[in-house]
Amino acid sequence: MKVLLLGSGGRECAIAWKLVQSPKCNQLFIAPGNAGTSAYGQNVAIKVNEFDKIADFCKQEQIDLIVVGPEDPLVNGIVDYFEQIPNAPKVIGPSKAAAQLEGSKDFAKGFMTRHQVPTARYRSFTAAEYDEACSFLEELQAPYVLKADGLAAGKGVLILPTLDEAKKELKEMLGGMFGAASATVVIEEFMSGIECSVFVLTDGNGHYKILPVAKDYKRIGEGDTGLNTGGMGNCSPVPFADEVFMQKVEERIVRPTIEGLKAEGLKYKGFIFLGLIRMDRDIQHYHAGDPMVIEYNVRMGDPETEVVMPRIQSDLLDLLEGVAEGNLDEKSLEIDPRTAVTVVLVSGGYPGSYEKGKVMTGLDNALFTQGVVAPAQNAEKSILFHAGTALNANGETVTAGGRVICVTSYGDDRNAALAQSMRGAEIIRFDGKYYRHDIGQDLNKF
Ligand code: AMP
Ligand code: GLY
Repeated sequence: MKVLLLGSGGRECAIAWKLVQSPKCNQLFIAPGNAGTSAYGQNVAIKVNEFDKIADFCKQEQIDLIVVGPEDPLVNGIVDYFEQIPNAPKVIGPSKAAAQLEGSKDFAKGFMTRHQVPTARYRSFTAAEYDEACSFLEELQAPYVLKADGLAAGKGVLILPTLDEAKKELKEMLGGMFGAASATVVIEEFMSGIECSVFVLTDGNGHYKILPVAKDYKRIGEGDTGLNTGGMGNCSPVPFADEVFMQKVEERIVRPTIEGLKAEGLKYKGFIFLGLIRMDRDIQHYHAGDPMVIEYNVRMGDPETEVVMPRIQSDLLDLLEGVAEGNLDEKSLEIDPRTAVTVVLVSGGYPGSYEKGKVMTGLDNALFTQGVVAPAQNAEKSILFHAGTALNANGETVTAGGRVICVTSYGDDRNAALAQSMRGAEIIRFDGKYYRHDIGQDLNKF
């Protein structure tokens, strides 16, 4: 098969690494890719939302399958776009209508309510309903959760400690703080507990596979302090997502979601990302220990993918073929029992402003695998998944983003995997490098 992967982050680097291990993968292109993805395939200078250019390229190269990394092209309808083209490649992802699960928080909450998927009580409001929205806030307990309905580059959720602050921020949001994305604001009850990320692959035919569970570390500072980022690290598996918990996730969340999509005629062949919380107290008729949904995303997580892909032993392309053809039930999913930890090295100043173009060294150290090496042979080595990197005119790898590179390691336990990623994180050098040393450490209490 000839495959085109869309995106340019650490997630796409990890998917590329995994795809080219498949004997079914004859050729891989990544659009636009980064300095890391070029080790696994050919980067193509096309942006993820340039559908016409993507279609021309697919025709020219006779691409069989398109794998979409980020949410933007999905929410913009790339699946529907290619469905209208005769002999077009199959696209892994939800239809535009189904991508509303991520594209509109109001739609996602309505969907969960219709299908009894456990989630926080909520209501949605527009600017004309400000007074009503304030009355609803008064019914809730602090802290207050406000969400821009539309995509806001991961910044559209505010959690406010007091009613006064919540009312003030609500006014700003409805007044255009996030542009059109916050013309509607979802207000919901606060859920208290610990979060994890569950990924489901579905073929739109009622079949699904639950991929390894991961835990994201979103804050910039150690001990989960400071500003929110795109993700500073991840680990998989997650000890509290044990068999009992996952059974509840499957029965109460995964199945109703898959059945709900079908019942509403929402075409979905792709990855579903469930942002879950394991409650630490009772809320509504849910109990401490139960899973509830914070949000749906219609793609893989980043940097979750950098630990999920390394733990999938089966052929990813074979699984995706099952997704495209609607026979995922005939495919097998084997999981590596080892723990994987990834640590993200970021540019100094991130998630605020930072400089780019810093020359990176240490990437060719013997501690890191070079090129594609199957997971079983990775035992002693770390894998580098590039995120914001580029090649400069001299052919040197330089920083080109806030999140620069992810160091993923395997271990018999979290501490061993983290220790190895720490060694790798030290060896890589660039001006302003910063990373967290405590990824996965909060899980030691479970
Ligand atoms: P984002 O990933 O930008 O949508 O941020 C959402 C984050 O806000 C989640 O990962 C949670 O940490 C937090 N959050 C969202 N909704 C709630 C809620 N109802 N209760 C508690 N925390 C929430
Ligand atoms: N790491 C969280 C996300 O991808 O949205």
